[in-house]
Amino acid sequence: METVASKAALGAALAASRARRERIALVPTMGALHEGHLALVDAARRCASRVVMSIFVNPLQFAPHEDFAAYPRTLDRDAALARDRGVDILFTPSVAEMYPAAARVAVTPVRRDDGSALDARWEGAARPGHFAGVLTVVAKLLHLASPDVALFGRKDLQQVTLIRAMARDLDFPVEIVTVPTVRAPDGLALSSRNAYLSAAERAQALAIPRALRAMHRAWTADGRADAGRVTEIGRAVLAEEPAVAVEYLGVADADTLEPIATVAEGAVAMIAARVGRTRLIDNIVFERAEAPGPDPRMNR
Ligand code: PAF
Repeated sequence: METVASKAALGAALAASRARRERIALVPTMGALHEGHLALVDAARRCASRVVMSIFVNPLQFAPHEDFAAYPRTLDRDAALARDRGVDILFTPSVAEMYPAAARVAVTPVRRDDGSALDARWEGAARPGHFAGVLTVVAKLLHLASPDVALFGRKDLQQVTLIRAMARDLDFPVEIVTVPTVRAPDGLALSSRNAYLSAAERAQALAIPRALRAMHRAWTADGRADAGRVTEIGRAVLAEEPAVAVEYLGVADADTLEPIATVAEGAVAMIAARVGRTRLIDNIVFERAEAPGPDPRMNR
């Protein structure tokens, strides 16, 4: 694995692959790698012959009160994991390399006349400006690596929806691939922010996948299609764990991310909640095969 820190070195590292017309995959990350990221690498290796991973904690996507400074930075460990999993080129730019001058242009989602926007709700509402930061850095990374395919985890569902829309609307010649959420055996979605949880908080956080599982079961096993009722079932599960402070929980159309009244195949339930000082997000797609982990308590 070649590790490069400058845009020029990344271009040079990719030049031979481009000359040989090799298929290039990009896995953008902020590091603190876990099995979720490594599943993206596995998927990348299945669809490309050169895998580039970026590790960059992007200041643009953090509000001043958020955890940019505290975000886990574990570069040596990450590099070993990336190498062992088959990453060919690791791009680890500094903030000065990525943003050498104060920006005057950014990529932002469109707000339509009716007020709708892909970032109007959920994470977009909870974290104003977050997705402009994400889209801007992803646009830059896509330009720098010019991959044929870029891979993102489904756990950040609104993020991948917006990135897919950006690629389509701005004609990025790249295929955006969404990889299913990887969960711990107890059902908790893997996230770099899980590192902030104490053992007690981690146990409390299991109410999140338990609630999603209950919503999914209400739809599949009990045949409930009323989104309000399905959401109430999730809220009832969460109410049993007072340490989990729900920020939002709802059911949305997977393409528009607008709330829907009736749960149909392909719809999504989305949640953000705080456990102690840690903010976690998760989601579940209402499809027959989906099930958030084998925690036996989730079948209650
Ligand atoms: O999902 C992430 O880790 C980040 O939002 C991303 C896509 C790497 C952009 O900084």
